Amino acid sequence: MVPRHVAIVMDGNGRWAKKRFMPRFFGHKQGVDALVRTVLSCADRGIEYLTVFAFSSENWKRPTEEVSGLMGLVLVAVAKYLSKLADRGVRIRIVGDRSQVSDKLRQAWEQAESSTRHNTRITLSVAFNYGGRWDIVQACRQAIASGIAPEDLDEAALNSFMALSYAPDPDLFIRTGGEVRISNFMLWQSAYSELFFSDCLWPEFGDAELDAALADYARRDRRFGAVQSAPANAAQGAA
Ligand code: FPP
Repeated sequence: MVPRHVAIVMDGNGRWAKKRFMPRFFGHKQGVDALVRTVLSCADRGIEYLTVFAFSSENWKRPTEEVSGLMGLVLVAVAKYLSKLADRGVRIRIVGDRSQVSDKLRQAWEQAESSTRHNTRITLSVAFNYGGRWDIVQACRQAIASGIAPEDLDEAALNSFMALSYAPDPDLFIRTGGEVRISNFMLWQSAYSELFFSDCLWPEFGDAELDAALADYARRDRRFGAVQSAPANAAQGAA
């Protein structure tokens, strides 16, 4: 079965560049190409949502030139690829804290979101200045501000305030680059995601790696805490 929602931690750009004696930025640049390839491949396979970790709340700790390089890369990527993705039916959404990014970047995100808002083939959510813990805290703040009574605040109610409330929980969570950890990505939403770790460095990720992950996913027995396999639509609200 094809997952409805795939989440990816795109790790390994720096090591990919280092292996080629190139600056880390070159790896991130190739990483953008890998992302564009991957979103179109996911759409071809019937995946409805792809969510990728592009910049974490913790990535500000990287050297200043790498941080500004990544910010600049977003502007270049939007200019280079937006019309192609828009034409192929990709809806783009950004999740994360926008308050700390420049006006220029915020405008580029707004342009990407507004010009693709009617697309329905696949939704690409780019997590930028995002962290799973940030998301839980901001959802709690919104819930409190809404005046909801404590006894009415259940999982569904809190979920409605989360940054990805428009998407089903990810079925498949992929991390490239050989590290075996979640790194604060989609902590709330990945409670029952199937995890797939690949040694492939992100710029090398292509159809072969995607299909290997999907084939592995198709063999998993998803129980959502029950004894027998759960029906296909049991992902939300299961025990
Ligand atoms: C992790 O590799 C990757 C990142 C922190 C950035 C990922 C960003 C992109 C692929 C570009 C996305 C851009 C847009 C416009 C959405 P790393 O640098 O930690 O690699 P390493 O572990 O080998 O050092």
